[in-house]
Amino acid sequence: MSSSESSQPQSQASADDSVVTIEGVELKLAHPYESPGDWIGQSEILKQLLACWITVDDTDLPLTPRLLGSPGVGKTQLAIAAAKQQKLPLYIYQCTADTRPEDLLITPVLSRGGEISYHASPLVSAMIRGGVCVLDEGNRMNEKSWASLAPLLDNRRYVESIVAGITIPASRQFRAAVTMNQDESTFEIPDYILSRLQPTLQVGFPNKQDEMAILQYHLPFAEPEMLALTVDFLQHSHELKLDFSPRDGINLLRFAIKRMAQDPDHPVAHDDAWQEALEKCLGEEAVDLELLAERRSRTLGGDAVPLGLADLFFDPDDPLHPDRDDDDDDDLDGI
Ligand SMILES: Nc1ncnc2c1ncn2[C@@H]1O[C@H](COP(=O)(O)OP(=O)(O)O)[C@@H](O)[C@H]1O
Ligand SMILES: [Mg+2]
Repeated sequence: MSSSESSQPQSQASADDSVVTIEGVELKLAHPYESPGDWIGQSEILKQLLACWITVDDTDLPLTPRLLGSPGVGKTQLAIAAAKQQKLPLYIYQCTADTRPEDLLITPVLSRGGEISYHASPLVSAMIRGGVCVLDEGNRMNEKSWASLAPLLDNRRYVESIVAGITIPASRQFRAAVTMNQDESTFEIPDYILSRLQPTLQVGFPNKQDEMAILQYHLPFAEPEMLALTVDFLQHSHELKLDFSPRDGINLLRFAIKRMAQDPDHPVAHDDAWQEALEKCLGEEAVDLELLAERRSRTLGGDAVPLGLADLFFDPDDPLHPDRDDDDDDDLDGI
């Protein structure tokens, strides 16, 4: 018995399984994403996300929430964990600035025989299979692509593929969530779309205990000393409102551990390996968090208060400065 004999019927079955016909058009579906996705700590936000997906009546509809937060804080992980808890197949669509509507829905692919076959995106595959779709980094996507999702995100729950010439209704089980980074390298999503992406769930940084558990979960082989150094660093950075995240902590620990394991005859000291990893992963500025925080707040302050004509003639603290913001002081003086 050859291995090809035993594997052939299997692959045939899975190929059949991944093809569906809608309005006479054959669609090849994407594979769900399989991963061990546990969510550690912050149980309230997981409950809020799961609540969005409940339907309380036959006429009720699930909500598609926005998961907002700094890069690396755990938004995608949260959505993965929620889909896993629901025991629904999970599909992740990575949105980018050049995502076109057909990428989001159905892509025509020219086969060798010259025929066109239609491939469903992870989003459309989730709609047909009745799974969860995470539209990851949704605010990177342009308005045209978002517009193609407008009917899906309200009570119509369908999409129209211009390329395949079909309308695809979503299964009743279909659920979605959109993650968005809070940085500026993104498109403005129009209001008519934002109003369909409700509620907004803000993912914040974990507390000390949870952050330790997250690092231990991802790096069970890390030594307690290295874990403690990293958690202290991350917590300090959260206190100073800097953006270093659990992802940064995981990366820097991984590098430090690899450096220590590299040369067993000349082991690098824990502290040196950790310091080096800090600089190489997060940049030299991460070495002095206080200084970095001060610089950031100065830059932000500078951006927030644009220079006016009066600034050319008066110092910002000059009592004669016409725009001097001293209301609070006045109030205090009056007390
Ligand atoms: N609460 C958490 N539980 C488990 N892992 C987490 C948690 N928060 C963050 N992580 C881990 O941190 C890393 C970054 O999370 P990710 O979801 O990719 O961030 P984001 O999508 O916000 O950029 C991932 O490796 C993720 O598994
Ligand atoms: Mg993400």
